[in-house]
Amino acid sequence: MVRAALAERRDGVVGLVPTMGALHAGHLSLLRAARAECDTLAMSLFVNPAQFGDSTDLNGYPRDEAHDLTLAETEGVDIVFAPGVDEIYPPGFQTWVDVTELGSILEGRSRPGHFRAVATVCLKLFTIVQPDRVYFGQKDAQQVEVIRTLIRDLALEIDVRAVPTVRDPDGLALSSRNTRLSAEERSRALALPRALAARDPGKARAFLAEHDLDVDYVEVAPFDPPVLAAAVRVGSTRLIDNVPLQGEDDR
Ligand code: PAJ
Repeated sequence: MVRAALAERRDGVVGLVPTMGALHAGHLSLLRAARAECDTLAMSLFVNPAQFGDSTDLNGYPRDEAHDLTLAETEGVDIVFAPGVDEIYPPGFQTWVDVTELGSILEGRSRPGHFRAVATVCLKLFTIVQPDRVYFGQKDAQQVEVIRTLIRDLALEIDVRAVPTVRDPDGLALSSRNTRLSAEERSRALALPRALAARDPGKARAFLAEHDLDVDYVEVAPFDPPVLAAAVRVGSTRLIDNVPLQGEDDR
């Protein structure tokens, strides 16, 4: 169906914004960047079970498809692709794509199999939609790097655009998981962007320890651009964030 809908629009540039729904201003910034540069804008909405480590995280993932469709329409999305689990993973599904080294550091070390599932679902979305350009948030810097590597290694003809992280005025990076934070947890979570603002792993680690956050990692990641990346646990919610160490967001 989505292939047929797109078939008529192949003349111009097709952009794809992959999402798991529960859209917030971070997603909207991707949609706006894509809308400004593409003739046809497709958005996918699929909560990919395979990329979740545990079923509590998957089952607790916020979902509001009706609201997402309204937002997509407001942002001028031409085509929303919201497949069912069986369409992406039909019975007998057994083909996976794994960006081996990049997929096993940082987030990959803490979440084994996560990037294999992200790479696989994105490759499948790319195969179905056949976009010229795909848009990803710099908030998930390692995901951007995994997708770039996938595209290069498999010689896909797709441009990747990385869109800067959208933050609340107090500095917290927008995330669908923020809705799970209590008011007290949310205020403790602010230590994460504040720690990263030092742009120094040692100082960031010390700051997070002082603020009593359960640190998973704080590391300089050799991405393009290099970033200072961190993951922490606030109560039962795991949050990630990063700041570029050079480039447009450098201060
Ligand atoms: P999801 O978490 O829904 O995010 C969809 C896109 O929005 C990703 O590219 C993500 O980096 C971007 N995004 C999220 N928060 C952002 C923020 N605060 N500022 C800017 N961009 C932000 O990432 C996924 O879904 C999935 O892994 C997916 C790529 C869809 C594959 O299942």
